[in-house]
Amino acid sequence: MRTLCEDIKESDIGKEFTFKGWVMHYRDHGGLIFIDLRDYSGILQIVFDENIEGESFKSAKKLKNEYVVSVAGTVRKRPDGTENTGLKTGNIELLVKSVEILNICEVLPFQIDEETEVNEFTRLKYRYLDLRSKRLKDNLIFRSKFTHLIREFLNGKGFFDIETPFLTKSTPEGSRDFLVPSRLNKGRFFALPQSPQLFKQILMVSGFERYYQIVRCFRDEDLRADRQPEFTQLDMEMSFVETNDVISITEELFALIFQKLLGITVFRPFKILDYDEAMDKYGSDKPDTRFELIIHNLTDIFANSSLNVFKDNIQKGGVIKAICLPDGVNLLSRKDIDELLNTVKEFGAKGLAWTKIGENNLLEGGISKFISDEERNNLIAKTGAKNGDIILYQSDSKKIAENVLGRLRLHLAKKYNLIPEGRFDFLWVVNFPLFEYSEEEKKIVAVHHPFTSPSVKDLNELETDPLSVKSDSYDLVLNGEEIGGGSIRIHNPGLQEKIFKILSIPDEEAKIKFGFLSDALGFGAPPHGGIAFGIDRILMILRNEDSIRDVIAFPKTQKAYCPLTDAPSSVNETQIKELGIKLRETTVI
Ligand code: AMO
Repeated sequence: MRTLCEDIKESDIGKEFTFKGWVMHYRDHGGLIFIDLRDYSGILQIVFDENIEGESFKSAKKLKNEYVVSVAGTVRKRPDGTENTGLKTGNIELLVKSVEILNICEVLPFQIDEETEVNEFTRLKYRYLDLRSKRLKDNLIFRSKFTHLIREFLNGKGFFDIETPFLTKSTPEGSRDFLVPSRLNKGRFFALPQSPQLFKQILMVSGFERYYQIVRCFRDEDLRADRQPEFTQLDMEMSFVETNDVISITEELFALIFQKLLGITVFRPFKILDYDEAMDKYGSDKPDTRFELIIHNLTDIFANSSLNVFKDNIQKGGVIKAICLPDGVNLLSRKDIDELLNTVKEFGAKGLAWTKIGENNLLEGGISKFISDEERNNLIAKTGAKNGDIILYQSDSKKIAENVLGRLRLHLAKKYNLIPEGRFDFLWVVNFPLFEYSEEEKKIVAVHHPFTSPSVKDLNELETDPLSVKSDSYDLVLNGEEIGGGSIRIHNPGLQEKIFKILSIPDEEAKIKFGFLSDALGFGAPPHGGIAFGIDRILMILRNEDSIRDVIAFPKTQKAYCPLTDAPSSVNETQIKELGIKLRETTVI
């Protein structure tokens, strides 16, 4: 019936074709009218010539942007000097013989594919128009190829694609659940799954051995550029595996994706960093390793500092840590340093000490007069600082100093363009602690989730020193974004019970929440482990977008609202009554 715009080539010159699509641009040049016709494949220039085909020229006068048309005519070479090298079909055009208007279009709320700033609410309200833009369309087509490739790869490796329920029970990823009231069982609620964690483990107990699913997950958390209330995971689980098996199949999958979709050969094996080292050197459990700016621990050097803030902090068990900004003297003015103080305060710092490195390694400015020659020599040896560098120090608890410098590191890298373009840095972070102490909840909580296996070597400390126990877990980081995480699971019901106890989850609560999994583990659960990847986050990075909303067809705003459908929306009193519930509060959007 029709040919696609970008399917024709110069060898088709002189041949007749019919194209169908949208009028993207309309230009009236007197006796000649030009339109750029857009279909899903791309763009083709269409010419209406009053002298050659008067009737269709008259019809063309009625065309406007985004009208849907069918045009038939002859492909010809564009006149010399009018070629458009930016278009795949830039050397040719269609001289129209006949045109049919298939549909008209209302006045547009914004021009498609123009570089004008359109506020996001409007773009999402008219998402169908927004999705006509080349950037978003290309993102979604890329997404489709991406998931196709994943399925092809995993099917080829003997994995089974098995669906798990959406109407289910709270899962243990630690966010707030979206709840669905039950009409048939009044007073009871389903929770939408934060992930298929429990079901995939149960599938291992059932003997499927290799499971995957490209699946929607739901988490009612505060949104950011890399978070959506519903997002998609590639979720995997395997029986009889160890960490290295999971790492190895993941690397094979990503190498294939990068080769096939980006033409990039990724370096394997990926780098592996211990959680402790990641925190020590990068102040983050998802370090961006595309640039250096390593954090140095200077606590030993300043143990006898004449600077009271340093000395007192060290005596209290705190640390002195610092970043050396190469060529900082040229990058940072005095005013910039003052501004950095405000920045780090936002990160939770109490202050920001600094020194410049001058000629002959002499220190200048900031706290330099409090630094002895011996301290200076050690400092230079440890940090490798040179003439012109600036050292930025934090004196605080280990947790705060690392967090502040980790965020400062990212801030400086972005501000001073220290991140190389087009680079993809994969990194495994392993050996996370199994537990951490939550100040908020005033109790020990799981760093990943309560089904994560402790490292075998630490099993003896489980009850005596739980916070020192490491887990058999692994996170995959790409360019400083956590794109996946998983672990080897507990398959022994006794050990699982012990973990619930350490987490102060009462027996009764454990039974109600996870009893079905604990029961299943008792019926011959194989050793198993798995991982889940954030598909939207990965696509955001591969497509060089700043927000995951740009790789999702119908995303929600930062306030978890959909302007296109006006969801969430009010429901009528009868519906609420039928569910056996009552409204306490309402929000006006
Ligand atoms: P986790 O909670 O680490 O692990 O999630 C896995 C990956 O999902 C992505 N992700 C998100 N993406 C977008 N919006 C969100 N709100 C969001 N939350 C998480 C991240 C993250 O790395 N069941 C475990 C996996 C396992 O143990 O196998 C789980 O869900 O990229």
